[in-house]
Amino acid sequence: MADRTGAPNTVEHFDDGTHPEFYYPPQELVEHSNVMAYAREKGYSTFEELYQWSIQHPQDFWSDMATRFVDWYAPYQQVLDDSNPPFFKWFTGGKINVVHNAIDRHANGPNRDKVALIWESEQGEAKRYTYADLEVEVNRFANVLKSQGVKKGDRVTVYLSRVPELVIAMLAIVKLGAMHSVVYGGFSIDALHSRIVDGQSRVVITGDGGWMNNKIVELKNITDGAVDRAADLVERVIVVRRTGHDIAMHAGRDLWYHELAARPGMDAPCATEQMDAEDPMFLLYTSGSTGAPKGLLHTCGGYQVQVATTLHFTFDIKPDDVYWCTADPGWITGHSYIVYGPLMLGATQVIYEGAPSYPDPGRWWSVAEKYGVTIIYTAPTAVRALMRFGDAIPAKYDLSKLRLLGSVGEPINPEAWRWYYRVIGQERCPIMDTWWQTETGAFMITPNPTTPLKPGSGTKPFLGIECDVLTEEGKPAGQDDDGLLVVKKPWPSMLRTIYGDPERYKETYWSRLPGFYTAGDAARRDEHGYYWVIGRIDDVIKVSGYRLGTAEVESALVSHPAVAEAAAIGLPHELKGNAIHTFVILRQGFEPSDDLENELRKHVGKEMGPIARPESISFVPGLPKTRSGKIMRRVLKARALGLPEGDLSTLEG
Ligand code: WTA
Repeated sequence: MADRTGAPNTVEHFDDGTHPEFYYPPQELVEHSNVMAYAREKGYSTFEELYQWSIQHPQDFWSDMATRFVDWYAPYQQVLDDSNPPFFKWFTGGKINVVHNAIDRHANGPNRDKVALIWESEQGEAKRYTYADLEVEVNRFANVLKSQGVKKGDRVTVYLSRVPELVIAMLAIVKLGAMHSVVYGGFSIDALHSRIVDGQSRVVITGDGGWMNNKIVELKNITDGAVDRAADLVERVIVVRRTGHDIAMHAGRDLWYHELAARPGMDAPCATEQMDAEDPMFLLYTSGSTGAPKGLLHTCGGYQVQVATTLHFTFDIKPDDVYWCTADPGWITGHSYIVYGPLMLGATQVIYEGAPSYPDPGRWWSVAEKYGVTIIYTAPTAVRALMRFGDAIPAKYDLSKLRLLGSVGEPINPEAWRWYYRVIGQERCPIMDTWWQTETGAFMITPNPTTPLKPGSGTKPFLGIECDVLTEEGKPAGQDDDGLLVVKKPWPSMLRTIYGDPERYKETYWSRLPGFYTAGDAARRDEHGYYWVIGRIDDVIKVSGYRLGTAEVESALVSHPAVAEAAAIGLPHELKGNAIHTFVILRQGFEPSDDLENELRKHVGKEMGPIARPESISFVPGLPKTRSGKIMRRVLKARALGLPEGDLSTLEG
């Protein structure tokens, strides 16, 4: 593709001979890609030319996208209002609702009878929803919420397993102009409680339980634990039935969804609220450097524009694709690329309820075969876990319909990349290694189907996006030098603030290198301008792609009566990417023992959720601290890795 993408077509044709590492996309794919169609339309013959135009005229580019992928009730007056940085506004004056774009317009147009969602339960039962079906379900759920007093501007917490009702509930909330705050169904009491309280949710939607690995996740019990502690706040808990096992219902507070839905009038159409582009759409909590989780706020207009645009160009969605993102809708990946993106584009997608290796490690591949999946978007940790079972398992399934693969959540190690490419993609399917964050809302650095790939690199920024790698002093880092990953200009799907704490928003993202958005990741750029994300530089640990704060783990530990002080660090782990290791100073009267170690691990799991359970607990007499008393986690990390204590990158601070 030397003539089209600015890079040569095959390794053999790559005549400077120094980079046999490039993997080139099939010419067919490049030729028919959405991104090349757009480049041609704009009069360019390569992606690079198109990209250059998009960053020279970002407002023209985004405005073009805003008219192409979404419909507006009323047109916007201004593309970007940057008069009060870092509080940027996009598409001001426009009226819009993502539910119109994701559901209403399809259900009342040519996609009416197209399958939108295929849901497979862990037991293998399949449910299909057309766009028309989803419209009915979303209306019903919205009517139920309305009957419980939910209205524009309210926050509703959703705590469910991976069931269709999770998607439907989110859409129903946004339909009414309220905001959802989805808490991942693997989190426990503390995490759920702090999110309900911070968001001030009067209504909580949960389930009786969820199925995972043939076991019931006790969603309702956990919800009770959280809501009982917020009794003054939470007025209503709506319970979706999934498992049917016995649960306690709190009279006057808890109501079954199916009973509410059967009441008269609930099947009537429910109007979709016309929102201002900058009205809040949802909160999603994420771990940061301190114990208090941050409620990241996304708004109605820019978010949906960038989500639809990135999905269209990166995953090249075509009308007959069957797309499968394996994430949970409770994370940003699921928000953007399960609930909103695919539906806005009128795609058909698969959601699988359960564990990847239930009842055996071929489950995912059987799902892909059964529904003729053409695009899989997953996480490195899952690839590594499934790789362990060998090539013979995926070989039993027909994966010939696959045409694109994706990766997200952490850097993908080249070995896992190559396995994914060779065994799952059968050397035919390029891997879209998408770098982005809960904060960014949508892809920022990512290949597209025309990009020559290097295993482990997210390649280059998306159209309209400018990034850089800077030193601590704000100077461009040299080629191949580690530095801070920054975004240079505002983008439509950026977070607008941290809920209730605009100062923290400014401080966290915009103060380290004034004028730039600092992502909290270290990265480097190679001779081809390809980005290599190294990992977090703050006190966030990525465990199996999940983002956990050291401070949250520490506060869970010190909530146990035996613990006086605690420190948590992340150390490399073969499958999980990173694992949590902790150091604990016991209170007087407690002695180290295996039993106590087990008890503390369980305690963290109970407070935060099983993913946060520490890999190890070391009982120590003291912890290294700065003069001001801050625990020096980097020293603990250096010791654990056998590195000289003073010889860590300055970025680690
Ligand atoms: C990491 C997930 C390398 C990174 C969408 C980022 C990645 C954090 C990649 C955000 C990738 C995500 N390559 N690292 N392709 N994608 N990350 O908010 O450290 O859960 O800052 O959003 O994940 O995690 P979050």
